Amino acid sequence: MTVVLESSPAAGPVPQGEAIIRMENIRKVYDTGKVKVEALKEIDLHIEKGELVAIVGPSGSGKSTLMNLIGCLDTPTSGRYELGGENVAGVTRDQLADIRNRRVGFIFQNFNLLPHITSAENVEMPMLFGGVSVRERHDRARRLLSLVGLGDRFDHKPTELSGGQMQRVAIARALAMEPDIILADEPTGNLDTSSGSDIMSIFSDLWKQGRTLVIITHDPALARRASRIVEIRDGTITSDERGEARS
Ligand SMILES: Nc1ncnc2c1ncn2[C@@H]1O[C@H](COP(=O)(O)OP(=O)(O)OP(=O)(O)O)[C@@H](O)[C@H]1O
Ligand SMILES: [Mg+2]
Repeated sequence: MTVVLESSPAAGPVPQGEAIIRMENIRKVYDTGKVKVEALKEIDLHIEKGELVAIVGPSGSGKSTLMNLIGCLDTPTSGRYELGGENVAGVTRDQLADIRNRRVGFIFQNFNLLPHITSAENVEMPMLFGGVSVRERHDRARRLLSLVGLGDRFDHKPTELSGGQMQRVAIARALAMEPDIILADEPTGNLDTSSGSDIMSIFSDLWKQGRTLVIITHDPALARRASRIVEIRDGTITSDERGEARS
């Protein structure tokens, strides 16, 4: 796929030349006993601080597998992976969880909010485990919810919010531990076009503030708003295009 990115006066910062993600010759094989699936083969991927990367590709091509590896939810079968200068290969499960909590903010298609607590409590949740004081948790949750336009929804539970609002709570939660990188797997998959576009605008704003984001999407219109588009097919990177993002 060749996507030509149009330049725009509202284009955001250029990458800062500091690799946050450094993957070399990564392979991932799922062994379910009967069959082995080689979900990723020989992946070389460097992502720099300040990039907004869209990962695209057909269903089953390995996008979520790649996201799970980048986000330290899983480990590669072989290859080298450094996240923020830390070697991730060969660490224990506990160490992996620690790296993940400190460095990665996740956003999922199904929002993954806890249904019985408020928006503010959902955003506070990662901070509960992250050693943040009660006062700071409270203040930060309110600041982040305001940042995503939910300043008037602190005490609403997920069931009292629209899909787009739930995804904004999830974005605020992903930012709570001030991660090095934000990973989103089909974040607009359950939203209508307009709410999906609003979510992408929030990602674009976060990127302009200097954050690093990796977004998996099936939607070419959303991918075109990234500063870089990486395409995966059958477990390998088949195209990697940088351009100036559109706002
Ligand atoms: N836990 C697992 N065990 C065994 N095989 C798996 C597992 N997870 C994924 N796979 C296989 O690995 C391949 C890549 O799957 P993956 O979920 O990464 O694809 P994807 O690009 O995210 O697809 P989609 O766009 O449908 O979400 C597929 O063939 C899938 O069947
Ligand atoms: Mg997937």
